[in-house]
Amino acid sequence: FSNVDLLIVGAGFYGATIAERVANQLQKNVLLIDRRSHIGGNAYSEFDNETGIEVHRYGAHLFHTPNETVWTYLNRFTGFTDYKHRVYSTYRDQVYSMPINLGTISQFFNRRLSPDQARALIADQAAEMAGRNPANLEEKAISLIGRPLYEAFIRGYTAKQWQTDPRDLPEHIITRLPVRYTFDNRYFNDKYEGLPIDGYTAIFERMLKHPKINIALGVDFFSLKSSLPPGLPIVYTGPIDRYFDYSEGELGWRTIDFEKETLNTGDFQGMAVMNYADETVPYTRILEFRHFNPERSYQTEKTVVVREYSRSARRKDEPYYPIDTRQDKDVFLRYRARAEAQTNVHFGGRLGTYRYLDMHQAIGAALKAFESRVLPHFAEGQAIG
Ligand code: FDA
Repeated sequence: FSNVDLLIVGAGFYGATIAERVANQLQKNVLLIDRRSHIGGNAYSEFDNETGIEVHRYGAHLFHTPNETVWTYLNRFTGFTDYKHRVYSTYRDQVYSMPINLGTISQFFNRRLSPDQARALIADQAAEMAGRNPANLEEKAISLIGRPLYEAFIRGYTAKQWQTDPRDLPEHIITRLPVRYTFDNRYFNDKYEGLPIDGYTAIFERMLKHPKINIALGVDFFSLKSSLPPGLPIVYTGPIDRYFDYSEGELGWRTIDFEKETLNTGDFQGMAVMNYADETVPYTRILEFRHFNPERSYQTEKTVVVREYSRSARRKDEPYYPIDTRQDKDVFLRYRARAEAQTNVHFGGRLGTYRYLDMHQAIGAALKAFESRVLPHFAEGQAIG
């Protein structure tokens, strides 16, 4: 470690952005480690051997951002396709467009509705909760969109996501349920959206290609921790509870089991993401990866699909979404107080801050942390943590 100026734990977007900035702007030596065998964190993708189709290994990753700074920054390392994400949901053998919009509402109630009529109908159906405070997720959802739409599109899907009856889930999990009183069925509203032209992993290869960046894969931070020079500055993007050996308790996460299959058809479902709202179907959605890149016209009569099954994570599972119960919040605050006392360690990213971050948020947060913590550390000797 004698010539390492900064150790970064985790080669996802947070760690890679800091590594790139430190090497290019400060010309300092970075050692970037990841316990996985690849760079890219959860945004990693690979081209399937048999079909050549790009598959996102850790679930569908759609890039979108309203943030001009992040968009400009990332465009230094990749171009983007003009892919615009759309999602459909199967319920009782019918296919509806998501998020709930005027098309979904008209189809579901089997009549043509103007925006005003649809608004009045939903308000009327939500009125059963008028004057009452929702006591659980089900009541909250009904207060927002009424019972019929809730029972069709939210109840089964949510129960599968959480493996819990929505009546047993706290109401604060949802603050809003988007309903659009137009036929706009674009999934994201952000100014910028697209997929990286030559795949996600190529972004990371370009970000990290610098003589000052050394990458060590298949290396777990906790197998090195005891041999590190005291005071070595560290950016840590792994789970915060693991860092402190779970001494304040374990934070709750949901994970997803991905079931991948190659099928002998050129097109299985005609779109990239199909949700399954019925509780009788065990998976939450099916991804068909070829539809993320229609511009590539993959020359294959096969297709790759992935079924997603959601459940709560055990310690050995990949942590994906913070459950963030009130107890989790308390536990996290205790870890955060301890993290703040670590002057040589900066905790960042999704796992290090126990927050769901979209890719653009992880990059934006890393660019800010570079300016506010890393730069002052190297320029003025301030603590990085
Ligand atoms: P990330 O998890 O990518 O990287 C952390 C790295 O640290 C990992 O590679 C891990 O192996 C490593 N690590 C942990 N502990 C370690 C240790 N002890 N030693 C060494 N290495 C260690 N976002 C979006 O914008 N659009 C989308 O469509 C999606 N879709 C999506 C689907 C699913 C299923 C998930 C779970 C997430 C998304 N995301 C997303 C979010 C996106 O994945 C997220 O924003 C980034 O992964 C965040 O980057 P980080 O660097 O913070 O974490």
